[in-house]
Amino acid sequence: MTTPVMETSPTTLPLRLTPPAKMNLHLRVGPPTADGFHPLLSWMVTAALFDNLEFTLIDRPGVSLICDDPTIPCDASNLIVKTASALLESIASPDQSRRTVRGLSAALQKRIPVGAGLGGGSSDGAFALLAVNHLLNLNWPAQRLSDFAARFGSDLSFFFHGPSSICTGRGQIVQPTPIPNPRFAVLILPAIHMPTPAVYRRFDEIQLGHESSLTNPPDWQHWSSLSADALLPLLINDLEAPAFSLNSSLADLHRSTSRLLNRIVRMSGSGSTLFTLYDLQDQAKHAADLIQNRLQTRAIAVELCPPLKFPPQP
Ligand code: C5P
Repeated sequence: MTTPVMETSPTTLPLRLTPPAKMNLHLRVGPPTADGFHPLLSWMVTAALFDNLEFTLIDRPGVSLICDDPTIPCDASNLIVKTASALLESIASPDQSRRTVRGLSAALQKRIPVGAGLGGGSSDGAFALLAVNHLLNLNWPAQRLSDFAARFGSDLSFFFHGPSSICTGRGQIVQPTPIPNPRFAVLILPAIHMPTPAVYRRFDEIQLGHESSLTNPPDWQHWSSLSADALLPLLINDLEAPAFSLNSSLADLHRSTSRLLNRIVRMSGSGSTLFTLYDLQDQAKHAADLIQNRLQTRAIAVELCPPLKFPPQP
């Protein structure tokens, strides 16, 4: 894969960032509120699967984006363009002369699968805000960026706190929690795109939302101390039933991976990524190889809560 070429003349060196994927280890969903959104209770962690994002400040207003994946829209609908433009606009003073107006040129190498429940678009959007904050020396604290980001989607706020957090509300109320004791996961990545709104709609159709799902939250401290074998039976994703009912191939893959590994397999977010946890990296690598070889489905072993390279060096 070739590195995308910046299309504008840069005034500073590019800032290189590596937005990580997220996983929902545990995801409980309540009945929808009046605005149609669902209250959540989720344990979210970062995973060592990264996009590559390059930002350069330019001397003209606006945000331009190029991407090595032609299926990704690079227009105003892209979360990178949306969040960075909104932040640049919010800090622009009305009397700013043309000469001092700053814009952003961005280049994305997409590595986190799209429509996979791994929060790749949200992570990119959140890191675009971190980039603007850094390049323009705004010095906004993480919580202010997190609050600003929440209007662009339920998953963005997590990325300002991570790497292990309890997310409530729509997902935008983020409370850091100890990282899980099992440090490795196998991500099973079928070529299936799950549309999040449709999964929530099916969740409502089959009337799965119960207030009781959100009451009596677990003792997260205790959960984070458990081995993979002790933790896996406690984990729940309330969106699995609607996702599997929408896509029978995903339901079949869930059954076949659990059987092949003789292990509990969960789904992340609204799918399509399935995962299981391991204490040791070799166990995770072995399981990923087994899935790839026997089921011809992409599977990778990843570290959970990897160290992040931010603040970055240009
Ligand atoms: O916030 P985000 O853009 O990720 O949400 C995508 C869709 O998922 C929403 O439009 C909504 O239909 C559904 N959703 C929900 N409740 C949440 C989060 C998302 O119903 N807490």
